Amino acid sequence: MRHDPSNSDLRKLIIGVEQKIPLSDGKYVTAINFDNAATTPVLYPVLREINHFAPWYSSVHRGGGYKSKVSSDIYEQGRAVVQSFVNSDKERDVVIFTKNTTEAINILSYVLSQQKTQQKVILSTFMEHAANDLPWRNKFKVDYVEVDRFGRLSIEDLEDKLIRYRGSVKLVSVTGASNVTGYLNPIYKIAALAHKYGAKILVDGAQMVPHTSVDMKSFDSLEHIDYLAFSAHKMYAPFGAGVLIGPKKDFMEGNPFVQGGGAIDLVTHKRVEWDEPAGKDEAGTPNAMGVVALTTAIKTLQSVGMDYIYQIEKSLYDYAISHMKNIPGIKFYSDPYRDDTISVIPFNLEGVYHHLLPTILSDEAGIAVRNGFFCTHPYCERLLGLSEEDINHYFEDEDEMFPGMVRISFGLYNNYKEIDKFISILRIIAENKEYYISKYSKNLSSNQTMKEAGLCNHMFNHGC
Ligand code: ALA
Repeated sequence: MRHDPSNSDLRKLIIGVEQKIPLSDGKYVTAINFDNAATTPVLYPVLREINHFAPWYSSVHRGGGYKSKVSSDIYEQGRAVVQSFVNSDKERDVVIFTKNTTEAINILSYVLSQQKTQQKVILSTFMEHAANDLPWRNKFKVDYVEVDRFGRLSIEDLEDKLIRYRGSVKLVSVTGASNVTGYLNPIYKIAALAHKYGAKILVDGAQMVPHTSVDMKSFDSLEHIDYLAFSAHKMYAPFGAGVLIGPKKDFMEGNPFVQGGGAIDLVTHKRVEWDEPAGKDEAGTPNAMGVVALTTAIKTLQSVGMDYIYQIEKSLYDYAISHMKNIPGIKFYSDPYRDDTISVIPFNLEGVYHHLLPTILSDEAGIAVRNGFFCTHPYCERLLGLSEEDINHYFEDEDEMFPGMVRISFGLYNNYKEIDKFISILRIIAENKEYYISKYSKNLSSNQTMKEAGLCNHMFNHGC
């Protein structure tokens, strides 16, 4: 596809890009979504395929009727679509359909915790989302690979820790791309290091898989990705599907995380025989609509081209940075001039509380962004320079305004014109801070007290 700054061809793929929404003055404008790291909108081909499949929709793996067989076949064929997309080994890997990345990592942590092994350490990192931190904590000793002053992962610290733990590291569990800073981690280099020291690697692909090509590589390669997890709702496919991929043999032993019908071969009151993976880890009625949505999104993204998507989004990123940096009072929380990034920009506008800015952007210009800690608390605390004592203080003192950042994140359909509108309103806000702070603080306090409205900490979500 040829690069077109208005992205008109790609915008035609997305439902809702022309949706009008109201501003605080009652006027209607076209909504701008710069919160794609949280959830992406829906692809037209996905909804078309859901409609196409709907008359055939029936119980997966549970019925002898014709539609049940069709639904079961479509669901099973989805695994091959996923495998081709990320080049997973069709013989040795299994694709487990989950609700999302969070559930995928919870399943993996439970499965690995049952293995009889001397390797008791999980190396997570300072930049992980809660989904790739908390599930490990109650099952293993967890240590965190450091980040540098720009928040970039320290490969030196990773190797130091792999050496220091002398073969006890079971898994290096790392995000492919940060949901806060957008940094793309060198997953193949990390895989090679992990394998050199006898560990495996999980890549949390929630933010990476929708934005750039991912190759799990062959089992024979030092750069092989052992486990990969990602979510459909971040790749233009709602309906609640996610993916966990890993070696089938690892899922053969032990009990499944979620137990019930569909996961079993035989049950008596004295005996339980589990099904083979993937069925073993998919208890309950499978999410056929979710898999149809996911596989259609994958085919659509493949037809656009993952490398092309990366280029488009990177050009949006560069364009936004080049203009944001000229606005007085903008503070970035990542290195804005890096190359290895998805298009995520964390920032603050000096003097405007991070919780207020998204309201102003939405109510004045119809622009959606996210603020807070983005479910990635330790990393945000580090980027904001907050100590454990600072955090305890903010958390415990209800009169304190809890710190945080504002984040914009682009999808393949965003364009320069939308960024121009964002830059224009951001500049106006920067030049008229007092006016906007007073206007929106009053709006909030007219309905509730300032405190209840979130101008002090406990009413905020701290990013989740
Ligand atoms: N983890 C998602 C985000 O970063 C929800 O917004």
